[in-house]
Amino acid sequence: MSKLRLGLIGAGGMGMSLARAAKAREDTCFVGVADPMAEAAQKAVDELGGTAFTNYQDLLACADLDAVIVAPPNTAHREVAIAAVEAGKQVFCEKPMAMNVAECDAMIAAAQRAGVKLMVGQVLRLIPGFAKARELALSGELGRPVAVAIERSGLWGFHGNGWRSSYALTGGFLFEVNVHEIDYMRAILGEAKSVFAAIPAVPVPGTDIPAINYVTVQFQEGGAGLLNSNMVLPQGQYQVCITCEKGSIRCDWGSVSYQLQGGELQNVPAEEIQQMTDGVAREINSFVEWVRNGTPPVVTAADGRAAVEIAEAAIRSGTTGQVVTLPLQ
Ligand SMILES: NC(=O)c1ccc[n+]([C@@H]2O[C@H](COP(=O)([O-])OP(=O)(O)OC[C@H]3O[C@@H](n4cnc5c(N)ncnc54)[C@H](O)[C@@H]3O)[C@@H](O)[C@H]2O)c1
Repeated sequence: MSKLRLGLIGAGGMGMSLARAAKAREDTCFVGVADPMAEAAQKAVDELGGTAFTNYQDLLACADLDAVIVAPPNTAHREVAIAAVEAGKQVFCEKPMAMNVAECDAMIAAAQRAGVKLMVGQVLRLIPGFAKARELALSGELGRPVAVAIERSGLWGFHGNGWRSSYALTGGFLFEVNVHEIDYMRAILGEAKSVFAAIPAVPVPGTDIPAINYVTVQFQEGGAGLLNSNMVLPQGQYQVCITCEKGSIRCDWGSVSYQLQGGELQNVPAEEIQQMTDGVAREINSFVEWVRNGTPPVVTAADGRAAVEIAEAAIRSGTTGQVVTLPLQ
């Protein structure tokens, strides 16, 4: 088969990192890049190849385009992804899939109608340390996983007038950041049943985005998820703790350890984690292989939708003070 002819829509930090992972493959090439900032589109094609556009519709009109990477700011995902699938293009869309479940459903329905593939970049489950911890949790070596607690805290690094400082343009941290942690919990514990959240009215300075999102998730199989997301915490950390029936697993960006009840603490050798394929490369490889050979993707649009549904339920719960049961009505 000839090369998969790709386009990039949204040539920012994430779009470029996905595009570079795609370009690193021998079986892809770039037809073009679309970004309303002409300079960003031009800089991207200088590196990737193809033609620069300031309007994504002009890129989608290219007859020789097979698939697109969709990575504009969150509020544009639905519109751009639907336009792309309606133009008959295969779509890889960045997380969060969209701004609410209704938008996700519209995207999935449009892809089904068009008979094209739609994948969502829920990458955390594929990032080496996290992927290793999940593999251990699902291996059964420590018994069935029953709880996942994740603390993601620190001081938010984006300020100013950009889209990341706006609640309306991001959906808040539960959408912009924590769909990662939510997806990771689901990837271990299965489908969620209900959500309860406490979201105090404490914004990140210089933004209107609530800084603290404490969320508990009950899963259908009986598991429990706990998210401690706090972006105004100087003593921040990123720590995942998975409780299994016979032991526990801890991981962060650089290390994975586990311990059976009554056993010794075991550290997964750092080299084993370093040798694993980078998460962005894994998701893009999977997308390309799905499109080219039909190999099932490592993350699906349904996964992207489910993460959005839990984030939406958490915001509803934080607003009303009530437990929100799923599916969302
Ligand atoms: N998976 C991850 O870990 C991860 C990390 C960072 C960002 N992201 C996601 O990737 C997306 C982009 O984030 P980023 O960090 O690259 O942002 P960014 O601000 O660096 O880049 C966004 C780019 O999109 C362009 N753009 C704006 N509106 C557009 C439109 N309608 N059509 C096409 N392009 C448009 C902007 O001009 C800009 O160049 C967001 O949805 C974000 O949540 C995911």
